[in-house]
Amino acid sequence: MRLVFLGPPGAGKGTIAAIAKESFHIVHISTGDLFRSAVKDGSDLGRRVQAILASGALVPDDLTIEMVRRRLAQDDCKGGFILDGFPRTIAQADALAGMAVLDAVVNFQITREEVVQRLSGRRVCRSTGRIYHIIYNPPKREGLDDDTGEPLVKRPDDEEEKILFRLSVYEKATAPLIDYYRRKGLLVDLDAGGKSQDIFERLRKTLQG
Ligand code: AP5
Repeated sequence: MRLVFLGPPGAGKGTIAAIAKESFHIVHISTGDLFRSAVKDGSDLGRRVQAILASGALVPDDLTIEMVRRRLAQDDCKGGFILDGFPRTIAQADALAGMAVLDAVVNFQITREEVVQRLSGRRVCRSTGRIYHIIYNPPKREGLDDDTGEPLVKRPDDEEEKILFRLSVYEKATAPLIDYYRRKGLLVDLDAGGKSQDIFERLRKTLQG
């Protein structure tokens, strides 16, 4: 199965992808995670994108498309993948059309209020990438990753003014992809409110249906 998860920041794309990849036995490719890991490694790409990520703006299309092209060429993608956070512009979607044939584009639908609530309480483990929420999905021990015990951090782009900026970037650059993929007959709407496990079950039924 080759899926794209499309939706505003904080819609729960990464959370549902973590469940779906296990259930569907496919690879989860998050462009946000790839960029963050490049920043952590101090690579040339990481140095170029660090300030952009922290600001909540989009990384230029050419850098993003090249990174995804390389990732999709790897062997583990042959059995299927979830692209989470890519494409985010029409130019990226056009480029993706030349790289892979998609089965569906899942449109995560969520209110603005929920997005702000979810992102302002998000905490992540830098090394495992595991995602928590201080209220909805707290770690077993406060502030620490369940497996490694490492301290959890707040992403620099999860401060309230950055969240609002990211939402405006989404509306301008990414929301037009909803119509783009609807016209291609690939769009599947998903109610992304409620509990993660329920959302995943809705997704599974929709994809089977
Ligand atoms: P990226 O990492 O992709 O960020 P995003 O799209 O803004 O998405 P998020 O990771 O914020 O949210 P999510 O939908 O995955 O939600 P999550 O599951 O974590 O991108 C970061 C940056 O990288 C961009 O700003 C840009 O600079 C760059 N970038 C990435 N891709 C790019 C591209 N294609 N082009 C150009 N630049 C690009 O959940 C959020 C919180 O809610 C968590 O705390 C979670 O525990 C909680 N939660 C999740 N589900 C539920 C639920 N059902 N109920 C209650 N709480 C929930």
